Amino acid sequence: MGQLATVSPTDLVRTLGTVMLPPVVKGPIVRRPRAVTLLERMDAERHALTQMQRLREKHGPDPVQINLAGRRLALVLDPDDVHRVLNESPEPFAPASLEKRGALGHFQPAGVLASSNEDRRQRRPFNEDVLATGTVVHPRVGLRMAQVAQEEMDVLLGHVDFAGELDWDSYARAWMRIVRRAVLGDSAREDEAVTDELLTLRRLGNLSYLAPRRPALRARFLERLRGYVDRAEPGSLAEVVAQTPAPPGTEPHQQIPQWLFAFDAATWASLRALALLTDHPGAADRVRAELDRAPDLPFTRSAVLESLRLWPTTPLILREATRETSWRTGTLPEGASLVIFAPFFHRDDQRLPQAHTFDPDQWLQERTDEDWPLVPFSGGPAMCPGRNVVLLVASSALGHLIGSRAFGSTAGLEPGRLPSLLSPFRLRFPLSAPAPA
Ligand code: HEM
Repeated sequence: MGQLATVSPTDLVRTLGTVMLPPVVKGPIVRRPRAVTLLERMDAERHALTQMQRLREKHGPDPVQINLAGRRLALVLDPDDVHRVLNESPEPFAPASLEKRGALGHFQPAGVLASSNEDRRQRRPFNEDVLATGTVVHPRVGLRMAQVAQEEMDVLLGHVDFAGELDWDSYARAWMRIVRRAVLGDSAREDEAVTDELLTLRRLGNLSYLAPRRPALRARFLERLRGYVDRAEPGSLAEVVAQTPAPPGTEPHQQIPQWLFAFDAATWASLRALALLTDHPGAADRVRAELDRAPDLPFTRSAVLESLRLWPTTPLILREATRETSWRTGTLPEGASLVIFAPFFHRDDQRLPQAHTFDPDQWLQERTDEDWPLVPFSGGPAMCPGRNVVLLVASSALGHLIGSRAFGSTAGLEPGRLPSLLSPFRLRFPLSAPAPA
């Protein structure tokens, strides 16, 4: 059997321009607001979807190769192959691809996501233990996290009442306070230095191997995190880290940068969810109707999941083949990077009737692996271990906002025709009426 097909020179240019370049322009590790808003205006993700559909039409279901300056990338085109690649991680599809090691090495060289398959054996279970991966409400700190989210939303609402609207800046500031308190402890509420240092290191991550390493800054940042773990403030994830057994090689405090970094993605996801809930008649009422069962808010969570389906915050899920693999029509060499472009699978209107529609109820039904591959949190053994934690915090924050005030929105979302990209940075939510009874 020969190798899998490689795209033509014309498709190479089109695919790079529409699929691979926009996530880099947006900022893979730290988003660049102006770039996101520009790409939104250009309807860039729609062009990417069309190009992916064209590749599937031309080449069939097997992954198709792209030769990029000697580096082999293979774009996954079929839902079954998404399951295969994610389920067969970390062998033969390792999560720590060259691209990830380059970007994440700036701030979390020993984080699980950038770890070798050997180090992953200790670090992955440690992450799952601390984050209580399989549990909707974290048994040790879940209630506290929900309470922190509500407290910070109350402070935000004080500002909203004064300003007359909620916007990106005020929401993002409140969100980062929740994140620092939930992860590091209450005393970190105003410790902007820790998140600013991470931001500086993440900006270097945007340039991956092209940016010089800043070992002194990285060491200082990681030492700060170690300090929070030593302090182990009650009700924080740092406390759970301190109390969770860690076999040699785990590097417990080095797992934390990924959590702080990933929580940031939920700022965009939750603000977009607020736009969905505000612009869809009846949705905010469904949120209010379930508030008496807090902190478990299934409908509000499903709105956050829909926000992540419609506008995935990790658009490119990457794996590196640790050996040659066989497919229907050919083989893929060892070292090739497999690329799962999530927006294609989430918004494929040739196969998915609800592609451009807000359909939270699909997340309330039992899902199986055979379902359409909706992979906002990836899937298989390397799936996001923090998904329940982040969905809990986001739904608690949104539930409290919507339960306390009635908002309008400037998103202008048209039910049934949702845009391919929604910049969270330009969203504003004016108070539209007195607080609901
Ligand atoms: C909206 C928020 C989030 C989204 C959309 C998200 C999504 C993802 C995705 C797609 C991956 C897999 C990446 C890959 O396969 O290459 C991942 C990995 C990971 N996430 Fe999340 N995540 C979020 C929040 C969080 C939070 C809040 C935490 C921790 C508190 C967290 C912890 C992790 C860790 C540790 C990994 C690496 C797992 C591994 O390599 O085994 N994530 N996340």
